Amino acid sequence: MSIAQKVRELLKSHGTPSKEVYFDLENSGFVPQEVVEAMMPYFNRIGYGHPSITHKPGWEALEVVYETKELLGKTIGASDPDEIVFTHSGTEANNLAILGYLLKNRGRKGKVVVSSIEHLSVIFPAQFASELFGFKTVLVPVDSEGFVDPELFKLYVDKETVFVSIQMVNHEIGTIQKLKELIDIAKSANPDIVFHTDAVDAYGWIPIDVKKLGVDMLTISSHKIHGPRGVGALYIRKGVEVEPPIKGQLSVEKNWPGVENVPLIAGFKKAIEIMFSNFDYRVEYVRKLRDKLIKGITSSVPHTIINGPLNEYRVANNVNVSFLFIEGEALTVELSLHGVYVSSGSACSSRVLEPSHVLLAIGRKHEEAHGSILFKLSHYHREEDIDYALEVIPKAVERLRKISAWKQ
Ligand SMILES: Cc1ncc(COP(=O)(O)O)c(C=O)c1O
Repeated sequence: MSIAQKVRELLKSHGTPSKEVYFDLENSGFVPQEVVEAMMPYFNRIGYGHPSITHKPGWEALEVVYETKELLGKTIGASDPDEIVFTHSGTEANNLAILGYLLKNRGRKGKVVVSSIEHLSVIFPAQFASELFGFKTVLVPVDSEGFVDPELFKLYVDKETVFVSIQMVNHEIGTIQKLKELIDIAKSANPDIVFHTDAVDAYGWIPIDVKKLGVDMLTISSHKIHGPRGVGALYIRKGVEVEPPIKGQLSVEKNWPGVENVPLIAGFKKAIEIMFSNFDYRVEYVRKLRDKLIKGITSSVPHTIINGPLNEYRVANNVNVSFLFIEGEALTVELSLHGVYVSSGSACSSRVLEPSHVLLAIGRKHEEAHGSILFKLSHYHREEDIDYALEVIPKAVERLRKISAWKQ
């Protein structure tokens, strides 16, 4: 049986639950109708040309590409739209930042410092650049809530350090890193250090000002804010030079070859407008849903651990719970049968069944990491969605614990 046939069979036996609530916004999510509608004209009515060609459909494409650069730049305090580079994903933007900078500086030797809880699209290119160009990549440990200790960080950055990448918000446990302090430490240890931050899980959830932070490069991904998947953006401060690690025909972007995905960029623009139209109210609204979900789970299900901080340094949309004595993978399936869609362990490692490197880095045991479930909320959730999840989760956990081989 081909994979497509197997999946077809699986979906047939799964059926469509009477209520469905999607909490797996860490991995990807639905695109709201107004974002879809913003994209539609760019497929065949306007701007369907190549944005660097001189004719009307090309100029229309260029217009929306630049409108999006201007809007995005404004939301993070960039000084020039050309500081924003579109890629085709957040992964590509992280690769451009890390491989692109280290490729440009390949004659130099020295250290690359990243935190141990970075997304793999940061850790892997940093390690790859070390193999290719002889830099030494070191991972800074974090504490039990995912924070890089500033005092410890001081021991990692020095005159030998070329590049640092530490994310603004952790994608799995929601830790809002005290980034300004870390950037100041790095720059005072060595003003030549280029500091990159992966802001994929921060953008739209905490205010960002690249100038106040003093950060040199910053990554964003469209599908993490209900935009379409397949567009990423990298802010590169004017004066910082990179060399594109992939080669081909350059278009509007001088640092990322390949024609820009104009309809998706138009959708990204709409998603940004929505995220920033009522920022504080929206974030507070989601924070209340998050707290209700956390309280509801911990009060109705015994033997749970909330992963990540439980104070103002937890991002408003993140709930990460380890349900002891069961496999998270089994729980995602059980919940799916009831229309509650979540992910387990780590978003990006769930298919290989490796325990999340983030959870291991904060000191969780393998079985605690395996039993973890990640919920990502947004302003598209309603209180009744949380009520429904809280109705389904305790029963699902109880059922799985009854048949689990793990002793309680
Ligand atoms: C923190 C973080 N960085 C980077 C990425 C990669 O972004 P993309 O899925 O657009 O490649 C993700 C995706 O989940 C992420 O959570």
